[in-house]
Amino acid sequence: MTTTSPAKGSGPAEQGPTNEGAPFLSVRDLRVHFPTDDGVVKAVDGLSFDVWRGRTLGIVGESGSGKSVANQTILGLHNPGSTRISGEIHLEDQELTTAPERTLEQLRGNKVAMIFQDPLTALSPYYTVGRQIAEPYRKHRGASRREARERSIEMLAKVGIPHPARRVDDYPHQFSGGMRQRAMIAMSLICDPDLLIADEPTTALDVTVQAQILDLLLELQQEFGSAIIMITHDLGVVSGVADDVLVMYAGRAVERGTVAEVLRRPRHPYTWGLLTSMPRLRGDVDQDLVPIAGTPPSLLAPPPGCPFEPRCAYAGEVADDVSCATDRPALPEERGAACHLTAEQKRTFFTERIKPRLR
Ligand SMILES: Nc1ncnc2c1ncn2[C@@H]1O[C@H](COP(=O)(O)OP(=O)(O)OP(=O)(O)O)[C@@H](O)[C@H]1O
Ligand code: SF4
Ligand SMILES: [Mg+2]
Repeated sequence: MTTTSPAKGSGPAEQGPTNEGAPFLSVRDLRVHFPTDDGVVKAVDGLSFDVWRGRTLGIVGESGSGKSVANQTILGLHNPGSTRISGEIHLEDQELTTAPERTLEQLRGNKVAMIFQDPLTALSPYYTVGRQIAEPYRKHRGASRREARERSIEMLAKVGIPHPARRVDDYPHQFSGGMRQRAMIAMSLICDPDLLIADEPTTALDVTVQAQILDLLLELQQEFGSAIIMITHDLGVVSGVADDVLVMYAGRAVERGTVAEVLRRPRHPYTWGLLTSMPRLRGDVDQDLVPIAGTPPSLLAPPPGCPFEPRCAYAGEVADDVSCATDRPALPEERGAACHLTAEQKRTFFTERIKPRLR
């Protein structure tokens, strides 16, 4: 699908907040495991990342890599009875994995909001759209019914719903799929969250509306200095709106850095594969695309070494005393990639084998 991204202009990457100093959100060694009849699904398995105020972190990775599960954990959305969670999630000075439900309830829809991948998860069929959009505003701001309704209409207008004063009284089934997604975005933005987690927020929307929504998120960020996590399959969206990037594979981060670093000088063979699969970034859609061969590993029994090893074209090229099949590569704390190739090998392989395909 083609996507239009707003121009970042003089956005935070150039002039605004940096990724130095204390992050607003800090996730460390997060594991989210689901025991099932077939075994334990290790959906997230040792994930660490940071998000700063005023900056947008783009999280990319194939379907099933754990992007949604990891971010739902920040909001405490998994059933504690059927999920094993370990690691730490710090939101400023608050630790969230051990926080009581009451604390999380106070955060949700207020300081931290999420735009869900599937609008039907967030909207009940039994209440009007307006009432649902207004709910966090009434709950967290103590607004009256009338104030909340006015704010709902204002938010519906902001996300581009025509005749908002009339549509506010519609039920979700009276909205199209794209309108429901916009209604959910309105609900997530109603309390001007400090951290917004946007899980594929623009997938069901047409190109013009996508650009409008991405602009709206950047406005929120510029006005309130919000931190944004943008989960997307679309590296075009990442290059348009994100400052930092985290590349996920099989429940872990395999590469991280600023957008300029990761998109211009990627260091992980998986990121190379993602980039060569992206027509918008390659600039020449007529050339054959180079998809990543094979499928992601089973999360029930992930490979003991590098999780990407079964699909990696470079697996045999690392030093003699290192085995991609049995030695798990670590991701450096700052910028870098979880890969055994030396810095020199990465530079050479990228320049000689990957870069020519990106032109
Ligand atoms: N409650 C659950 N029980 C068992 N497995 C689960 C559960 N929830 C998610 N999973 C599995 O965890 C893995 C990660 O899922 P997740 O939804 O985070 O992927 P994703 O990266 O968001 O993918 P997509 O891009 O398709 O949205 C998947 O294999 C999924 O099937
Ligand atoms: S560690 Fe080995 S298998 Fe994994 S990405 Fe690097 S070269 Fe490929
Ligand atoms: Mg998802």
